[in-house]
Amino acid sequence: MKIEVGVIGAGAMGSGIAQVAATAGHFVKVVDTNEAMLVTAKKNLESFLAKSVEKQKISSEAADAIAARIEYVRELKKCASCRLIIEAIVENLEIKQKIFSDLEAIVSGDCILASNTSSLSIASIAASCKDASRVIGIHFFNPAVLMPLVELIPAISSSPNVLLDAKKLIDSWGKITVVAKDTPGFIVNRVARSYYGESIRIYEEGIADFVSIDWALKQFGGFKMGPFELMDFIGNDINYKVTESVWEQFFYEPRFKPSLTQKRLYEAKLFGRKSGKGYYSYAEGAIANEPNKDEKLGKEIFERVLAMLINEAADSLYLQLATKEDIDLAMTKGVNYPKGLLKWADEIGVNKVYTTLVNLYNEYKEDRYRPCVLLKRMAQSNATFYAKN
Ligand SMILES: NC(=O)c1ccc[n+]([C@@H]2O[C@H](COP(=O)([O-])OP(=O)(O)OC[C@H]3O[C@@H](n4cnc5c(N)ncnc54)[C@H](O)[C@@H]3O)[C@@H](O)[C@H]2O)c1
Repeated sequence: MKIEVGVIGAGAMGSGIAQVAATAGHFVKVVDTNEAMLVTAKKNLESFLAKSVEKQKISSEAADAIAARIEYVRELKKCASCRLIIEAIVENLEIKQKIFSDLEAIVSGDCILASNTSSLSIASIAASCKDASRVIGIHFFNPAVLMPLVELIPAISSSPNVLLDAKKLIDSWGKITVVAKDTPGFIVNRVARSYYGESIRIYEEGIADFVSIDWALKQFGGFKMGPFELMDFIGNDINYKVTESVWEQFFYEPRFKPSLTQKRLYEAKLFGRKSGKGYYSYAEGAIANEPNKDEKLGKEIFERVLAMLINEAADSLYLQLATKEDIDLAMTKGVNYPKGLLKWADEIGVNKVYTTLVNLYNEYKEDRYRPCVLLKRMAQSNATFYAKN
């Protein structure tokens, strides 16, 4: 069914989400208080569509039709007839709450109000509405046009029908949806923390330099980007802030503790690619050091980081954050992991992963290495996450 969709915020995420909705055939209203952002969003869309026509990915008629379906406006009241509104404005709870309560006064009773927030609780945003049951999290990944995954996050107050309707709609846009509990970082931004955190820890201990750690994870894990390359790509400012926020919101859980290494990079504005320097230099002609391709060391590094990732995925399953299928889908489709982590655990053996974690815990006596109780029970009974064929 083609409905009118509202997108609030014409930044990186809002403009992408609007494009996805318009491509799926919906009429879209994009609202931003900043005129310049609206102009840029329109220009970027036009140039994206022109390139797609040039590469013969779509016809020029189809491109024109997509562009014609999006209207760029300054006032929220233009969204009065929208049946779904996705908010993608600045990550600030008070400002988001104000938008949601303003929107509720404008739209009809059956309009779903969604937030694309990465780090705020959906419950706290929904609390600003008289009818909190209509509010849900719909979390796209950047860039929204290319990334297939969308996390759906019902809040404690969301109506089950709102989740069903949102899922039906976003699935029809060609996205892969997973459902996550309203907890910090949802699935991807929580489970992926160990990829960065444990790699930095290995670097801080002097076990290997970051070039060699990147090499180990690509070589033995098949990851497309090593953790340090990826942090530089995402931006050390964004990556650090997500880590800090997840850690704080989990009441300072040691597994998510940020590192001083990354904090210093952030403070020094060594954000990565976008600032020209992060862990690596992106200056013209800059050459990275050669990795130490010691196979034994590389495998140890990979096994340690993977065990930490699997521990987080298992803990997420144990605490009913999402189904095992959705946890695995989220990591393969949201951050391009080569395999779902729980499936990976089955392949290498839950007992082996558990032993790696126990050894780390015994060595360091730090809570960050505490194995999930689910892994422990599974290791004891030689169980697997998925049925054995
Ligand atoms: N950038 C990412 O990688 C990413 C990924 C997933 C989710 N998110 C989330 O999406 C949201 C938007 O992120 P972004 O990176 O697109 O931000 P952005 O800074 O690129 O864009 C935000 C836009 O919102 C506009 N805005 C601010 N206040 C407004 C208001 N009151 N009314 C209307 N427009 C307003 C700004 O003018 C700006 O154009 C955030 O909640 C963020 O956490 C971001």
